[in-house]
Amino acid sequence: MRLTVDGALVDLAEEATVLSAVRVAGVELPTLCHDDRLTPVGSCRTCLVRLDGRVVAACVTPAVDGAEVRVEEEELSRLRHDAVEMIVSALPPYALEGDGELSRVCRSLGIGPQTAQGGAGRGRDHTHPFVHLDRDLCIACGRCVRMCAEVQGTFALTLVGRGSETVVAPGTGGPWVDSDCVACGGCVDTCPTGALTEPGLPIGTYLAALTRTRTTCGYCGVGCALGVLTRDGEVAGVRPAKDGPVNRGHACVKGRFAHGFLHSPERLTQPLMRGRSGLEPVSWDEALDHIARGLRAAVAEAGPDAVAAISSARATNEENYLIQKFMRVVIGTNNVDNCSRLCHSPSAAGLTAAVGLSGGTDVFEDVEQADCLLVVGANPIDAHPVVGARLLQQVLHGARLVVADPRAVGLACHADVHLRPRPGTNVALFNGLAHVLLADGLIDEEFLRLRASGLPKLTAVLGDYAPDRVAGITGVPAADLVAAARLYGQAERPAIVYGLGVTEHLHGTDGVRTLANLAILRGAVGTDHGFGVNPLRGQNNVQGASDMGALPDLLPGYGKVGDPAVRGRAEQVWGTRVPDHDGLRIPQMFAAVRSGALRVLWVVGEDVCATDPDANRVVEALETCPLVISQELFLSETARHADVVLPAASWLEKDGTFVNFDRRFQRVRPALAPPGQARTDFAIVHAIAAAYGADLGCPTPAEALAECGRVAPVFAGISHQRLDREGAIPWPCPDPGRPGEAKLYLDRFATPDGLAHLAARPYLPPGESPDDDYPLILITGRRWAHYNSGNMTRRSGNIELDPSDRLDIHPADAARHAVRDGGAVLVESRHGQAMLPARVTDEIPPGQLFCSFHFPASLANALTSDHADTVTSCPEYKVTAVRLRVIQESS
Ligand code: FES
Repeated sequence: MRLTVDGALVDLAEEATVLSAVRVAGVELPTLCHDDRLTPVGSCRTCLVRLDGRVVAACVTPAVDGAEVRVEEEELSRLRHDAVEMIVSALPPYALEGDGELSRVCRSLGIGPQTAQGGAGRGRDHTHPFVHLDRDLCIACGRCVRMCAEVQGTFALTLVGRGSETVVAPGTGGPWVDSDCVACGGCVDTCPTGALTEPGLPIGTYLAALTRTRTTCGYCGVGCALGVLTRDGEVAGVRPAKDGPVNRGHACVKGRFAHGFLHSPERLTQPLMRGRSGLEPVSWDEALDHIARGLRAAVAEAGPDAVAAISSARATNEENYLIQKFMRVVIGTNNVDNCSRLCHSPSAAGLTAAVGLSGGTDVFEDVEQADCLLVVGANPIDAHPVVGARLLQQVLHGARLVVADPRAVGLACHADVHLRPRPGTNVALFNGLAHVLLADGLIDEEFLRLRASGLPKLTAVLGDYAPDRVAGITGVPAADLVAAARLYGQAERPAIVYGLGVTEHLHGTDGVRTLANLAILRGAVGTDHGFGVNPLRGQNNVQGASDMGALPDLLPGYGKVGDPAVRGRAEQVWGTRVPDHDGLRIPQMFAAVRSGALRVLWVVGEDVCATDPDANRVVEALETCPLVISQELFLSETARHADVVLPAASWLEKDGTFVNFDRRFQRVRPALAPPGQARTDFAIVHAIAAAYGADLGCPTPAEALAECGRVAPVFAGISHQRLDREGAIPWPCPDPGRPGEAKLYLDRFATPDGLAHLAARPYLPPGESPDDDYPLILITGRRWAHYNSGNMTRRSGNIELDPSDRLDIHPADAARHAVRDGGAVLVESRHGQAMLPARVTDEIPPGQLFCSFHFPASLANALTSDHADTVTSCPEYKVTAVRLRVIQESS
């Protein structure tokens, strides 16, 4: 469509508004009740223009082909001026301090602070650690209310009062801190007046005077682009980037607000070394010299395989690249692994076998086009809130939703069908769904004939998985199973999103394979008929740590260390021989320490004593190991058991890149310098190499990524310079002149034969099942305000929102065990004990319990077993048989 704005021709898409036309023409217009992400309401009347002679609110008026829009007319200017002036006249004088939206609008209209003479003394609500409300500054534009509903999907806010007394308030009434607010910060970001602010950026702050650093969030694997605002060497606030490819201006309570840990007095600022009285401060030279001597002694006495490193899914790609290079090139061992071993290694193995590459099959924008979502073993509302919010919006806009998860949390409350399988029965569930797809003819026969293999074998196995039998194994009613399969099977564009509830099992890789079967049967992967199979990654760079080759059997880019051609390419770049046998996986490292085979364990940014299973045995291993090196922000449980502790920089103090859950490389940039003598992991690895007498080359992160591209052609087209220009690039990206592949496998699958591989896997029982001694099943996972071991979130304002761990227990079990809400409970497994306060809730089914592992003091991982996925050694975190003992009752 084409129209004119103040005489200038403007071309517009259909269904655009007059406001869009005005903006395209480059004309400024106040829009105090408008945010491009929200449904326009046209209530403030500050955007008045003339459309073919009529005065209209530009934000809510559709543009018309051939129309004439007038903005710069004296009468219109006066109307807009008067509308803003009337709004401002009700506000207190400080309303126009700072450079917020209202202040800028008033300056542009010549409205001075003398106009703001109102303020009814309606009071403030500063009860929440991150969101502060000044009711006197509220103009009832409703942007915050719509942001909470239309972007976040929490519906926590409302407008209360009448006429000029109308003001935003939590929908639950009472103080903000007790409301349903999930602290995404969206209301603060959209508020035009400063009625809603955050503590570090109160009304009157000149944001333009702050330093803004564009980086990528270092919490979960969503990969939100953030603008970090700093002042005098401290973070004043974090603003989600509106052009962030995944978050689009949204964020969550962690990325947005959990930065208080940066200046925690507990932050490590100098190296520590174990002396007579425990860990004592030493110089970097002393620490590095001790490490180098320990490495030399171990290699000389027991060979290079006596050394192992646990690299970090928190660290950048470049740091992970450097660590694995150090282990392979300098030490001469493949003993390097990362925590994907403990979360998504079954995804890597399962997806590689099924479709060819170790990553999700589609980018998230495509998943958002799905008309049916199958969300399995994931609670993105809590664990990946930005993705959770976008999935929820998709459902609120009509997409069908099947959730498969034992707990009734997050998206499950909005599901068309909620399947609640017994923990450890996923393979039976997925086989049951596949059985129905076959039985009802809901498969893509042409796709299966041309692009997939394995159907006859799968069909034979699926004969044993009729809904009634699956109901017996899983506890899922047969009718629900059939309904779910039909929703997925009849959708035009189905998508699967899954989490650790699929992978962290004794047969986690089988779970991934049998889940992928559903997409393959439907022809919903590698085609335009669906959006594949997409794992939600837990840690910020768990995808990247594996991509960079921090794995004992795979080099950068997932080439096998046993493959001479793959090794040859790396050897050519590195100029030295690469060991040809697989190294140790993380659980094998602890076993090797206990047996005396491993002499040095280097743990980079992982709190293995808190997050790894069977924690008592992990501690035993660390205490046995002659030299344990821990690179950390804080004196974590692991650091306490180390011989040398090196103070490390956080994600806000680093330069490099992360890869998010949908395979996008994005830049990480330092907003601050590390405190004291802390160094980046990149600098620490170089320093250890230098102390050992080695030069790793690639002196900068940019050069490290460039070198990685020479070792792994799938990354060859990605560079810091290109990311600085383009923002985000998905891999595979072998060519610097071409875009990366966002949607995979449209031509062929990346398997050796180019086909998608169906997997015929029978259901096998989990490692532990309830019995007379241990009658309950414990599931562990994450909660909304915290992250992983909690070392960062517990040292931020998030601790006020969620101050302690708790054990979720169904009311029937609570009654049976005489457990009261809030009462202390001793949980016992065959592996250890943990003490937790009870939370009685029907979110968890009878016979099951749930707790997080964010509070190491509660010892949740002392309970979990050493059962692990038979293919990848990923621990069976989701199934531990336990029993309860009540210690005390709450008053
Ligand atoms: Fe158009 Fe408020 S912005 S009426």
